[in-house]
Amino acid sequence: VTRFKMAVRSSSISVAVAPMLTKLQQDCATPLPVLRSVADSMSADMRAGLAVDGGSDLKMILSYVDSLPTGDEKGLFYALDLGGTNFRVLKVQLGGKDERVISTESEQLSIPQELMSATSEELFDFIASVLENFAQKGGNFNLPPGRKGEIGFTFSFPVKQTSIDSGILIKWTKGFAVSGTAGKDVVACLNEAMDRKGIDMRVSALVNDAVATLAGARYWDDDVMVAVILGTGTNACYVERMDAIPKLQGDFSPSRRTIVNLEWGAFRKGLPLTVFDRDMDAASINPGEQANSKFNLSMLTPISLIFEKTISGMYLGEIARRALMYMAEEGSLFGKSVPEKLSLPFVLRTPDLSAMQQDTTDDLQTVGSVLYDVAGVESDLNSRKIVLEVCNTFVKRAGRLAGAGIVGILQKIEEDTKGAIFGKRTVVAMDGGLYERYSQYRRYLKEAVAELIVPETSRNIVIEHSKDGSGIGAALLAATNSKYERNL
Ligand code: GLC
Repeated sequence: VTRFKMAVRSSSISVAVAPMLTKLQQDCATPLPVLRSVADSMSADMRAGLAVDGGSDLKMILSYVDSLPTGDEKGLFYALDLGGTNFRVLKVQLGGKDERVISTESEQLSIPQELMSATSEELFDFIASVLENFAQKGGNFNLPPGRKGEIGFTFSFPVKQTSIDSGILIKWTKGFAVSGTAGKDVVACLNEAMDRKGIDMRVSALVNDAVATLAGARYWDDDVMVAVILGTGTNACYVERMDAIPKLQGDFSPSRRTIVNLEWGAFRKGLPLTVFDRDMDAASINPGEQANSKFNLSMLTPISLIFEKTISGMYLGEIARRALMYMAEEGSLFGKSVPEKLSLPFVLRTPDLSAMQQDTTDDLQTVGSVLYDVAGVESDLNSRKIVLEVCNTFVKRAGRLAGAGIVGILQKIEEDTKGAIFGKRTVVAMDGGLYERYSQYRRYLKEAVAELIVPETSRNIVIEHSKDGSGIGAALLAATNSKYERNL
């Protein structure tokens, strides 16, 4: 009797839900013309943002990183990395061309939730005290007398860079809502906190995580031209010729180059969106902008969605949850009652989607237990299959759109100088937990790149994971911009 009931229930589920799934898949579809238009718009927006400040959705922020690591860097340098879920401190001893990285030490901690909405002083005091404890450890790393420890500060939020060692926070993203930092120089904020604690160190380079990743990867490989972060948030940067940046006034020789940070999370043109994206965007505290998890359900004006919310780790789980909730309410996906916990924003996280998609058991046990553990959902095989389809639909769209974005960047460089990219080996350095840990996402991204670029040239494009490039990258940029090391 039970089996009979189950069979009846299962088939009635798929009857109601099937058209919803089909509609979702149609709305999320990324056939070649869609990908191509995203890639073309990305190139066009890059140009517009390079022409004048505010000329496009892409800020095209100048990093002031004008000399890339060469391998000759020497000495002891520190890196601080604040950008998403974790905060890291790192100490690196660089030994020049022959010895390269002699030793590293690092420590990682998660940012206490309350600090993400604390005051600026509280946040920077916390950072300074972690740095102080860390710097005091490990006596084998002593600096020459009279010399201050130099820091490469990776700060992964939109910053209007004013020099290599100063920059003004435009706004917090990715769930941070710290008061009193926006509009201020974040290096000054850190220096003040270090002064309050009597720490005798200085920031030599302030960099975005994408920029630090590019520098870190370039240290090992001269063909690295682009870096992409796909983690909690997302971003990309690349090596640009200074004479191709009209807003950077001056007469530059084509050989002079710099790194430009796209802040591509704000890109919005031609993205295939669903009602779930729009609802999620409308419910966020920053509708129409980049990812931020603080919800204010009274703000219900749908504004166009943007890239970061569609492709980065912070949001994929939430978009899927919204679609599943709809299917549960309107199509009885999980039977008559709607699982209460599933209505909580962000209860389903992107790592949960990834865990479910790795399930290879016949009865989809992992899917069942993830649904039960995180959202109290009781599921049968049929509903588990639909859940997987929903996850796959959003992940496929995300990976393919990220791939199209990468091609947009490569295309822009190639259009300026024929053969600069497609005519030789070119490396795109990738980092971030989403890229690193979600195999389906990686596969969709690479497939889209291969579809968009003709095979002869796509053989030259290497998309490579640069593990932890940003930590070493920031330390390297502290070295290249050192006040003490003159041999660079
Ligand atoms: C967000 C930040 C950006 C950062 C990215 C990846 O989009 O605005 O600066 O690079 O996340 O961490």
